[in-house]
Amino acid sequence: MSFNPVTPVPQVKGADLENNKLDSFRSFVASIVAEFSGISADNILAILEVPRNPEHGDIAIAVPRLRVQGNPAQIAQQWVEKFSPNEYITSCTATGHYLNFKINKLLLANILLDDIYKRKEKYGTNQSGAGKKALVEFSSPNIAKPFHAGHLRSTIIGNFVKNVHDANGWETIGLNYLGDWGKQYGLLAVGFEKYGSEEDLLNNPIKHLYDVYVKINEDADKNETINDQARAYFKKMEEGDEAALSLWKKFRNLSIEKYKDTYARLNINFDIYSGESQVSNESINRALEILKEKKMLQESDGALIIDLNQYKLDVAVVQKKDGTTLYITRDIGAAIERYEKYKFDAMYYLVASQQDLHLKQLFKILELMGIEWVGRCKHINFGMVSGMSTRKGTAVFLDDILEQTKESMHEVMKQNEKKYSQVENPDKVADIIGISAVMIQDMAAKRIRNYAFNWNRMFSFEGDTGPYLQYAHARLCSIERNCGFGINPNIDISLLSEKSALDLIDMVAQYPDFVKGALNTLEPCTIVTYAMKLSHTISVALETLWVVGQKEHKVAEARLLMYWASRITLGNALKLLGLKPLERM
Ligand code: ARG
Repeated sequence: MSFNPVTPVPQVKGADLENNKLDSFRSFVASIVAEFSGISADNILAILEVPRNPEHGDIAIAVPRLRVQGNPAQIAQQWVEKFSPNEYITSCTATGHYLNFKINKLLLANILLDDIYKRKEKYGTNQSGAGKKALVEFSSPNIAKPFHAGHLRSTIIGNFVKNVHDANGWETIGLNYLGDWGKQYGLLAVGFEKYGSEEDLLNNPIKHLYDVYVKINEDADKNETINDQARAYFKKMEEGDEAALSLWKKFRNLSIEKYKDTYARLNINFDIYSGESQVSNESINRALEILKEKKMLQESDGALIIDLNQYKLDVAVVQKKDGTTLYITRDIGAAIERYEKYKFDAMYYLVASQQDLHLKQLFKILELMGIEWVGRCKHINFGMVSGMSTRKGTAVFLDDILEQTKESMHEVMKQNEKKYSQVENPDKVADIIGISAVMIQDMAAKRIRNYAFNWNRMFSFEGDTGPYLQYAHARLCSIERNCGFGINPNIDISLLSEKSALDLIDMVAQYPDFVKGALNTLEPCTIVTYAMKLSHTISVALETLWVVGQKEHKVAEARLLMYWASRITLGNALKLLGLKPLERM
């Protein structure tokens, strides 16, 4: 590198000098303003901003927020006069009551490219969560029932929530809480006796069980005795009857095996396959005991209920007349078991907002039981999707959704014949880009917003789409492949002083802020927006700053390093979102 700073960076609490290179510059600004104002640099660091208008500078502070005596605009002016530049901070100006600082961008470029060269895949991550554990429950489909849009969103967003915790240094556990218990599994067993086929079950358990379930439901609608049989069967299951349980276990295990393959296509694997069935009777009974002691249970028609009306949370039924448990009862037992087993610092439930009431009831009941860790449980909710059914109208399984996606993507790719003929493995590429399209569409807006599944728009290579992001990544990979020389970390940094180069460095430097910020909001759209802006800044730079076709070798090398660092950063952002970054397409 061409120059190394000699001024030591001041130590300011809250600055992560190791993982966030902008924090070095912020520490200087905080110390400078601390000297002017007499306020501690730690407090100042926390209120630094990025100026709305980039012409004004790189770091700003609203003087009124310091609460010093006097007219803020005048004070800002006085401070400007006192300021003297250093290696890191090159200027200080005032606009109204704002104080704006410009940083030495080439120094930033120098430090940043060096850092990314060393850290590669780890660039952007930090260790702020070291020693903390997060349990993330997501996806959680129901056996023998459709995998609907709510499950797809839970899968996509849940994987993101887990990745964000990993990136911030947490230990994470991904848990799939299957819907695999309740009277409907009694019904399924009754149906299997009538309509089941061993062979179909082994071939495609998810589809076969669903078919059986649909048929037996139709029968049950006509014939009430089938429901009685189902109830009796489920009661046997709850009582631990070996024969009843072994059939159900087979259904469950085969379904899980099949799900594992499909999740792998999405680049997801779970640490634990749990489910409603796995909650022990013992922990449920213990919970019911506590509820009884606390006088929270009431009898109603032979069933046990908890009246939560005074909290505007309606009534929760925790035990049926026949003594069997319900969805919420199992959730109470499951939460307690999970805490005992994992002692988590945070537990997330990735469930659609239709179940807001259910989770509010759950958390309220745990609170009333006197459970002190209830504050660590969080419901991460999201809105609904419309129009997800496929052209054939039959997408009830995750597999179908992904197949349909791949086919549609394939068709879009074929429209560009010349390019298509150069793709080595079109089937695999279509699969990955198609999945990216679905995922980015899902994560592009705030979680709580509903959206319409748009089979045309999401596959476009232009606009805010998954294919656009993948294309930006693959394009940089192709430059690296085709330029004819390798990455050299020892470049002359002054060769990167064009505006579009500095803008790109600036974007890349912000990535660690976004990783940290995502931990607070758990909003994937913040990272999608970042990835879009980064891709856009890359494409602006590529218009004028060429690598291939650049005669001056030293210039080409400097640019290659910059594009390589941008590609690493974009790739890291895509992986954080759960995408597999493509190298060719
Ligand atoms: N299986 C449930 C459903 O499909 C979702 C489970 C949500 N998680 C929970 N702990 N209740 O609606």
